[in-house]
Amino acid sequence: MAWLFLKVLLVGVSFLSCLYPLVDFCFRGEARAQRPNFVIILADDMGWGDLGANWAEAKDTANLDQMAAEGMRFVDFHAAASTCSPSRAALLTGRLGLRNGVTHNFAVTSVGGLPLNETTVAEVLQQAGYVTGMIGKWHLGHHSSYHPNFRGFDYYFGIPYSHDMGCTDSPGLDLPPCPACPRGERPSRSPDRDCYTDMALPLYENLRILEQPVDLGGLAHRYAEKATQFIQRASASGRPFLLYVGLAHMHVPLARTPRAADPYAAGLREMDRLVGQIRDAADRTAKGNTLLWFTGDNGPWAQKCELAGSVGPFTGSWQVPQGGSPAKQTTWEGGHRVPAVAYWPGRIPGNVTSAALLSVLDIFPTVVALAGARLPPGRHFDGLDASEVLFGGSQTGHRALFHPNSGAAGEYGALQAVRLERYKAFYVTGGARACDGSVGPARYHEPPLIFNLEEDVAEAVPLDPGSAEYQGVLPRVSEALAGILHDIAGDNVSRADYTQDPAAAPCCDPHQPACRCHSASRTVLPRAGASGNETASAHPPSFY
Ligand SMILES: *[C@@H]1O[C@H](CO)[C@@H](O)[C@H](O)[C@H]1NC(C)=O
Ligand SMILES: *[C@@H]1O[C@H](CO)[C@@H](O)[C@H](O)[C@H]1NC(C)=O
Ligand SMILES: *[C@@H]1O[C@H](CO)[C@@H](O)[C@H](O)[C@H]1NC(C)=O
Ligand SMILES: *[C@@H]1O[C@H](CO)[C@@H](O)[C@H](O)[C@H]1NC(C)=O
Repeated sequence: MAWLFLKVLLVGVSFLSCLYPLVDFCFRGEARAQRPNFVIILADDMGWGDLGANWAEAKDTANLDQMAAEGMRFVDFHAAASTCSPSRAALLTGRLGLRNGVTHNFAVTSVGGLPLNETTVAEVLQQAGYVTGMIGKWHLGHHSSYHPNFRGFDYYFGIPYSHDMGCTDSPGLDLPPCPACPRGERPSRSPDRDCYTDMALPLYENLRILEQPVDLGGLAHRYAEKATQFIQRASASGRPFLLYVGLAHMHVPLARTPRAADPYAAGLREMDRLVGQIRDAADRTAKGNTLLWFTGDNGPWAQKCELAGSVGPFTGSWQVPQGGSPAKQTTWEGGHRVPAVAYWPGRIPGNVTSAALLSVLDIFPTVVALAGARLPPGRHFDGLDASEVLFGGSQTGHRALFHPNSGAAGEYGALQAVRLERYKAFYVTGGARACDGSVGPARYHEPPLIFNLEEDVAEAVPLDPGSAEYQGVLPRVSEALAGILHDIAGDNVSRADYTQDPAAAPCCDPHQPACRCHSASRTVLPRAGASGNETASAHPPSFY
């Protein structure tokens, strides 16, 4: 009934969308009907070496391997940061943290999020007439107008941040193991700083908390169901769609799979099945007209020991004797080189491995270009339109990429490593907390350490600063770094509000310990403008 009404509404909306000046396709009826759908799937803490197609030792990703065989696999593809929030902010804005303001993670009690005058890819596509949905982990602010429904998504189903940022009744496998949500009395903060036990993890559908704590064991199944529904309904509406899926996998806690000898591998297989189900849903309803792009937000969380993924050959060997891990939170290859597969039967050639230097930053400009929309004005972007690479005509990606500090060493967001062609220069190194508890201290390198990744993917032995090779590349690295810093200085940059207030924690029934509720009718209404005077791009959500 409601759906029927919405369908009528959608016809109106898609007609109206032709009034938006940004839509190039309106008056070209034929082209407009051909606008592609997009499914972007972001894995969490997945290692480059977890993808079977990348690494022979990995054997748990049959669906992804098949997508790689039928599509394009990128072997030099990078996250734009090596922790959750900055990596996701960069995906949705096409801009590095120094521009979009998101340089480290948001907390359960954060009042802010991705700055409201940053424009998300979902906002651009929504304006261009797309049906937009987000399923899964958001982690770009949940309070007030930072909620996904106010950042361009017509539909949202998922958890507001990482699933270890709140207790659940069946906590799953984590290191250290966290206790279940308290019952019966007000909880107190766990003495273990790695366990979040004072507020239960909520599950949202749009602005409503459906349940708190969420049942993590059933999440993959519900994500598959909701993604399938979204794809079917969006296709039935006659409008193109954008679906962004932020998976809970492979972040801890991992599901307790009965009889699983290797819980990480079991989790990987569950994730791979979920990806396969989403691909099947897209193939059933919109095959040949849907670009599915799978990648990851950062490398494995080494601190979690056997519950962390594999970096493959990117072992960051120079860092290891200094202490700490060269994976998630660091600028070593293991921290931000991520698995990536693009699948679009009939458009993207099959069984192709691309070594083009590309980034999660490229998703925004590529998707916007393929949708026939325009990039938002008044700002610069770090990503590029990778269509030529996707469609097989080009092997050329970025000449340079810049990797920000995401927590391992020094100032958040600062560009500490420069990738230039086959070289990688470190101005600062550091190691995140490792499985053995060690942390590698920040070390500043002037002149920088430079590795030749073509000969040394393990980043084991830096070039001799006296060598002709080093002397040849150093001025080009310095010039590239100076160039982007100059560009950022002249750009419109945003600042995220990292203020924390206990009242910002989502809570569907304040009278219950840990805010318990089941199928609650509690709507957590955003308070517009609660975060000061940013230019609000938020408009009331129109649920599809
Ligand atoms: C994919 O390509 C590789 C080598 O380029 C080849 O050995 C393999 O048979 C191909 N697989 C398929 C399914 O075409
Ligand atoms: C920054 O924003 C102002 C005002 O909207 C605009 O005039 C200017 O061109 C923008 N700067 C850049 C670098 O786009
Ligand atoms: C966001 O707003 C701030 C404060 O008004 C401004 O300095 C900045 O340039 C804006 N960012 C963009 C991308 O326009
Ligand atoms: C921001 O808010 C403050 C106080 O509420 C006000 O004085 C100021 O003019 C506002 N700035 C903008 C750009 O709206």
